[in-house]
Amino acid sequence: MTTPDTNTALRADGPWWADAVIYQVYPRSFADSSRDGMGDLGGVTQRLPYLKRLGVDAVWLSPFYRSPQADAGYDVADYRDVDPLFGTLEDFDAMLAEAHGLGIRIIVDLVPNHTSDEHVWFQEALAAGPDSPERDRYIFRDGRGEDGGEPPNNWQSVFGGPAWTRVHDGKGIPGQWYLHLFDSKQPDLNWGNADVRAEMEDILRFWLDRGVDGFRVDVAHGMVKAEGLPDWSQKVAMVGGDTGAEPDGSHVETTERSEDLPPEDRDVPQVPEKNMTPSGDATPPYFDQEGVHEIYRSWHRVLSEYDGDRMMVAEAWVEPMSRLFRYVRSDEMQQAFNFGFLLAGWNARNIVENVSETLTEAAAVDAPPTWVLSNHDMVRHPSRFGLDDPTSFPKGISADDEQPDEELGLARGRAAAMVMLALPGSAYVYQGDELGLPEHTTLPAEVRQDPSFFRTQGAERGRDGCRVPLPWIADAPAYGFSGPEGGEEPWLPQPESFARYAADQQEDVPGSTLELYRELISVRADRGLGTGSLAWHELNAPDAGILAYTNGSVVVVANMGGEPIELPAGEPLLLASSPDAVVESDGVNRLAPDAAVWLG
Ligand code: NOJ
Repeated sequence: MTTPDTNTALRADGPWWADAVIYQVYPRSFADSSRDGMGDLGGVTQRLPYLKRLGVDAVWLSPFYRSPQADAGYDVADYRDVDPLFGTLEDFDAMLAEAHGLGIRIIVDLVPNHTSDEHVWFQEALAAGPDSPERDRYIFRDGRGEDGGEPPNNWQSVFGGPAWTRVHDGKGIPGQWYLHLFDSKQPDLNWGNADVRAEMEDILRFWLDRGVDGFRVDVAHGMVKAEGLPDWSQKVAMVGGDTGAEPDGSHVETTERSEDLPPEDRDVPQVPEKNMTPSGDATPPYFDQEGVHEIYRSWHRVLSEYDGDRMMVAEAWVEPMSRLFRYVRSDEMQQAFNFGFLLAGWNARNIVENVSETLTEAAAVDAPPTWVLSNHDMVRHPSRFGLDDPTSFPKGISADDEQPDEELGLARGRAAAMVMLALPGSAYVYQGDELGLPEHTTLPAEVRQDPSFFRTQGAERGRDGCRVPLPWIADAPAYGFSGPEGGEEPWLPQPESFARYAADQQEDVPGSTLELYRELISVRADRGLGTGSLAWHELNAPDAGILAYTNGSVVVVANMGGEPIELPAGEPLLLASSPDAVVESDGVNRLAPDAAVWLG
């Protein structure tokens, strides 16, 4: 007996993205074809057959545009060109053509909330001075206080410190302030300005004309700010620990433009965006404003002019979930990342709650749900799941911190993939998930690159540990990241453990994580799980650490508790998260802790 369905089945003949498995490529760290130690688009092209065999429907590429790389490319200086680090526009076109030839769609990252301060518009704005049309493309304001020496309001940057930086108006005379919700090298655009709207639509068309299948929209909840930019004094609740940042202005310090200062004096990012959610239903005046939806409606119209079900996926850190699903109403975006699933950790209660709520809210707006376990901003899930508290979210891990239990974390990570990949909707896989890759948890300070590490003097370990170049060949230099012969040192060092995770050690090896992912994705497609519907199984007992559901002919059981679970009789074993997941005694099959199975 099962409880009634909590969602409506997705249409089997619906758009491709509704049930797609989408693989995130972080171009810096995927594969290096030029052998300079930095991943590139040529490397993506070379490895497309690998992705084809994995069975993914689409690839989402994190930014590869021209950028000073102050935030690893999320600071774009030219939205219509490829940064020489990653290749050329011709390389992009070749990669796209090859992918399409293999039936793999390509989604690119769009960063519309802010540009780089090295973008020509920002340079023009600085030169043009106050009250100019050039400045109106950004959010410049006079300061408060007698000499304008106080920031225009008390907003804090998501990366910590004030969200305003003062500029000099010639000859070092202090002038206006500009808003940057992130780093001072990422000035926020003014979405009330017609040039900004027209330009971003033109950028959409530039990439749509080249043939991309969609966009991942960065900070989709942040583009419109409340009228009058009012102060905001709510306490910010931090998922995974309070950093002590108070948006009441008490920590605000006047800053100069950060590039005028030595690195140690630059803005100090303290609060990664991923760790910040408004407490209760208090929404800061710079997030989730009603006006963002009109932008997405206009973009929806642009995408509709193109054939082939082009799509957008929102990176929107919005609560409660009903607010998130407003981004995927039928005339807005097609998908939004379900970060609640990722934040649930290895915990049956959290996951069941998230899945139920997601399916209900998705059905209410007739949008497909999405699922994700890891990305380039988070400690990799096998490492999180190997911590004492497998629901915790450290801001990176260093050698001084609690070290995850690698074996336990991997076992749980594989089981979590089994939970995710049988869910109806669309699933996102971060590069290396399919290898079971752990976080690099002992990166030495001198090689770390995420500004949040050195700008907090190491208080935050930063995001480098999940961005380490992939291992392809166990016995090649840099584990084959730059090909079998090797090349320059990779931009981040890899841990020695990567040898045993290398793709060539897992290829065609029964029971390897890579083979498990291939089988899961293949069975998911054969059984139509992405367009199926979920019902909780009678075994489901989240308070006891048991998660169990059916989707079509497949029963999924995961054991997140401490005791073996008796599995239902008569259901053939389809797939198991490990060779010893199921123990048989006296004719009864039991599922071991930290394991999962697909039956049916
Ligand atoms: C979200 C991206 O995922 C993150 O890497 C980046 O730092 C911020 N947005 C700012 O663009």
